[in-house]
Amino acid sequence: KGVFTFDPGFMSTASTESAITYIDGGAGMLLHRGYPIDQLAEHSDHLETCYLLLNGELPTDEQKAAFVEDIKAEIAVSDSSAAVLDGFPADSHPMAVMVSLLGTLAAEFHESTNIEDEADRYKAAIRVIAKIPTLSAMTYKHSVGEAYVKPEPGLSYAENFLHMMYGTAGEAPKVNPVLAKAMDVIFLLHADHEQNASTSTVRLAGSTGANPYACIASGISALWGPAHGGANEAVLTMLNEIGDESRIEEFIAKAKDKNDPFRLMGFGHRVYKNFDPRSRVMRKICDEVLADLGVENDPLFKIARRLEKIALEDQYFIDRKLYPNVDFYSGIILKAIGIPTSMFTVIFALGRTPGWIAHWNEMLSNPYKIGRPRQLYTGSVKRDYPA
Ligand code: CMC
Repeated sequence: KGVFTFDPGFMSTASTESAITYIDGGAGMLLHRGYPIDQLAEHSDHLETCYLLLNGELPTDEQKAAFVEDIKAEIAVSDSSAAVLDGFPADSHPMAVMVSLLGTLAAEFHESTNIEDEADRYKAAIRVIAKIPTLSAMTYKHSVGEAYVKPEPGLSYAENFLHMMYGTAGEAPKVNPVLAKAMDVIFLLHADHEQNASTSTVRLAGSTGANPYACIASGISALWGPAHGGANEAVLTMLNEIGDESRIEEFIAKAKDKNDPFRLMGFGHRVYKNFDPRSRVMRKICDEVLADLGVENDPLFKIARRLEKIALEDQYFIDRKLYPNVDFYSGIILKAIGIPTSMFTVIFALGRTPGWIAHWNEMLSNPYKIGRPRQLYTGSVKRDYPA
């Protein structure tokens, strides 16, 4: 049928060459520019990892300090972004709001961004990495009807995010260092994941020569779905639905029933058919955060722990290599920190922004073609319009 290779879900199609991230799903390996994710999580921080993704090498101390200053210089957003946000009903889904707020950046910087120019592309990358925590925190503040909190120059990237989320306008920052460290690692663990659905979307949009902030908006849209970034939100919805440890077996049985579309949220991965290396780090952070906040015995977290244990020992999950993925633990950590579930995918988008923009920049820095898949046509043969 036709002359094209048919590969639904792109199971065996490489859409691009890339030197940014390497995944060996079978071995449970994730490398950014060659560095294992667990080593980065232990020794690096999110902004240094952003620099690495964008530039290909770890920064020297001077380069890192300059990068941090460049980010700080761009962290504030304009009144026009705030005005657009103010127009949204408070109960709007934050991902819908974020798509629009990226549109405000596209509008503001469209004329001044020449995507053919390397320096302009780098500036766009800095800008979007810097502004996305601010826009995310403002989206939250708007949803709870509180005044926006301005970023503080003395705070780190993750501290500033928590300050803008939970601080009070005009008051000095009070940020818990354990939670700030956890947020930074969550951002870092999400920073890139090669050609996933949202990154491929950013590349496809970018391949038309579109505005970079609009490309990031398209990535946010693709990330929203429960099969991708929406999974950590779906994990919490599922844990609430389970409601009691006595009902775990019932949900496991539902997940295994082929006549029931229900799946255990936060389990399984298209690429990792072994433990996701990010999950190991996330699990550790999860323990630290629950202990720091003294909520290990909260019924919801006990359900999560028990569910994890039962699924890991169940033959159905073992046979299909279905392990808890990064969203399983990140959902629990974010819930413990007090972040509302509707904001979970926004946190994922915030963390993934450097990956999206690094892939966009890599594509534009090399010869590329517009992405234009073909199809196998299954419709009607040619016929005449009724006279
Ligand atoms: N619960 C129960 N059964 C499952 C699950 C699950 N979570 N995931 C896969 N399976 C079964 C599936 O029914 C199939 O069984 P069988 O071979 O008997 O028909 C087998 O495992 C293979 O599944 P698949 O659908 O072919 O696998 P996939 O690679 O297409 O899907 C996935 C990967 C992540 C979409 C899927 O595992 C899933 O829906 N998980 C739940 C949602 C989730 O946690 N998503 C987050 C993904 S990671 C975050 C990211 O990188 O964006």
